[in-house]
Amino acid sequence: MTGPKAPAHGSPRPLAGPIVTLDGPAGAGKSTTAREVACRLGFRHLNSGTFYRALAFALLDAEIVPERWSELRTEHFDALPLRVEPTSEGFRTMLDARVLEEELRSPLVTGEASRLAAFAPVRAWLLGVQREVGRGGRLVADGRDMGTVVFPEAELKFYLTADLSARARRRLRDHGVDAPTVAEIEEEARRIEDRDRCDSERRHAPLRRPDDAYEIDTTRLEFDQQVEAIVARVLGAG
Ligand code: C5P
Repeated sequence: MTGPKAPAHGSPRPLAGPIVTLDGPAGAGKSTTAREVACRLGFRHLNSGTFYRALAFALLDAEIVPERWSELRTEHFDALPLRVEPTSEGFRTMLDARVLEEELRSPLVTGEASRLAAFAPVRAWLLGVQREVGRGGRLVADGRDMGTVVFPEAELKFYLTADLSARARRRLRDHGVDAPTVAEIEEEARRIEDRDRCDSERRHAPLRRPDDAYEIDTTRLEFDQQVEAIVARVLGAG
């Protein structure tokens, strides 16, 4: 990916504009919320999960099997034809000339991205990419470690949670299943729990609530309510 020029470790650069971070477990509605908050504020949306997914997709596409991922170093990632490009609303990932979109949402890429995210060289490399693309500020960044590791100096941090079954229902709805059976909800909940466990128990940048984050439980909130709660806080803080 182009952009991994920032130092992988050490302190982030001074930012030209404000950054808002949204962290939380899988299916808490971070990305859709962050996209809408960014739109209302006129900021860019950085969906960091997309970068983990794009890297997993690029490795699979290059036929580098997951069993070998633990051996990979940053120079291997530099050699992939992956790029991040700014768009009017956020960023898109590209593999050669191909814009990566739906292929990043497949169950295979979702599961492998989560395993890939546990490796230190992966996180170090993507840390550089994320700080580089976020350098200008005016950003709403969502993920697992936005407020703790990638943008620890962000102006405002939020931590979104929701009940496991609410998260499973939302994920299913995102995939077009509006009236799921109990079995479907249970299966999706298990997948989410597996990813949460991977993300919370890993050694490097595990998922945790930043100490200075506002926590929002979205279980009983309408989408508009959670967006408005965040936008109001950002504007109130400005
Ligand atoms: O948010 P999303 O589900 O697209 O993220 C895909 C995977 O990427 C997550 O399961 C998580 O393991 C990893 N990830 C991460 N840190 C981030 C964003 C995503 O480890 N900041």
